[in-house]
Amino acid sequence: MKVLTAVGARPNFMKVAPIIAAINRHNDGADDAIRHVLVHTGQHYDAAMSGAFFTDLQLPAPDVWLGVGSGSHAVQTAEIMKSFECVLAAERPEFVVVVGDVNSTMACAVVTAKVAWDCAGARPRVVHVEAGLRSFDRSMPEEVNRVITDHVSDLLFVTEESGLHNLESEGIPSDRIHFVGNTMIDSLLAFKDKAEASPVLKQLGFRTRAGGVSDYALLTLHRPSNVDDPDAFLDILAGLNDLGHECPIVFPVHPRTRQRIKEFGLRPEANGMRVALIDPLGYLDFVAVMKHARLVVTDSGGIQEETTCLGIPCVTVRENTERPVTVEHGTNTLAGTTAPQIRAAIRRQLQRPAEAVAPEKWDGHAAERIVDVLVRASAAPAKARAERLAIDGRRPGFTVDANVPEAIPA
Ligand code: UD1
Repeated sequence: MKVLTAVGARPNFMKVAPIIAAINRHNDGADDAIRHVLVHTGQHYDAAMSGAFFTDLQLPAPDVWLGVGSGSHAVQTAEIMKSFECVLAAERPEFVVVVGDVNSTMACAVVTAKVAWDCAGARPRVVHVEAGLRSFDRSMPEEVNRVITDHVSDLLFVTEESGLHNLESEGIPSDRIHFVGNTMIDSLLAFKDKAEASPVLKQLGFRTRAGGVSDYALLTLHRPSNVDDPDAFLDILAGLNDLGHECPIVFPVHPRTRQRIKEFGLRPEANGMRVALIDPLGYLDFVAVMKHARLVVTDSGGIQEETTCLGIPCVTVRENTERPVTVEHGTNTLAGTTAPQIRAAIRRQLQRPAEAVAPEKWDGHAAERIVDVLVRASAAPAKARAERLAIDGRRPGFTVDANVPEAIPA
């Protein structure tokens, strides 16, 4: 059995690390060892956005580096697809695992779903980890990536119950779907104690002499809708002003956001708000800063989940979330994006007691469940393929035989 995992951008790395670790545990003394190939598209390429995560999460160096870099969505996606098709042809894996919702996820899934090794259409099976999440907002590039990836996937691994309902309502057959939990939380639980050794809190001046931690808030912003428009960005900063007078705000700045701050000539600290703009943090440093924050303000998807498990109040600067469990059961609240909304949400969340919640199956074992399903699916490939053809065969006028071209004349 050969598994190829494709990663590309920062939020992918913590989602695949536990899967690779679970494959290694499976291989320990097993007769049916899994061969694993790690492909990095190069969507994120800086040490701060990529390299540091490989070290912190103890990931192996990628076997293949595509080096696609930045570009418009079309250019970046096309470059990944062109290069990834060659890798697939050379590696011929049985499964291609993609995670999350970034351009690399969608590009690699689509390529895999469309290759054919023979005239019967034999190809690797597409495995989507973190399937079924929906913000129902198609203006988000990630939402488009999620929908496309799910609809070309053969195995869909879901992190929360809403994902099951979403996939069911979109007509994805239930035997392709597995509710396994959250591999990003597997990483958090595996590394949160190690993160305590990070020197970052001392470097930022938050460690007290008595060994405690003083009050501060953590801010991350990078969504195009929040940072690409100067008025939207300024309104968010206005909403943070009161908080920045109450306690210091640490702001690890994403490269996209850094570019916009420069371009728009913004000075977040201009009206007396205490805010420290720092470079993006590595995984362990970021977990350390998040774990001890009084409050987190963010527009990220994953941070809503991590703060839920850590019990840190979170204010999400968006109109919607594809992760409703973090609001229904966790510590997250959806603020909206205007200054008064953000101010009010921050006030509410500062009153809230810290309380860690573990949504169903967010127990540190999601990756083991995934590897288990892959091993079982590999043992029954013929059956799975017959089922897939039977499902596709429900289309009127389509039969399995009709899909196999006649012999090509010499
Ligand atoms: C991507 C994902 C987003 C994810 C985010 C996490 C898509 C559509 N979006 O957005 O879902 O939450 O990553 O970071 O896939 N850049 C660098 N160094 C790097 C990478 C990027 O400087 O290592 C700069 C480039 O100038 C680039 C910009 O950041 O233009 C944006 O990078 P890109 O990967 O296109 O999208 P993100 O905004 O990072």
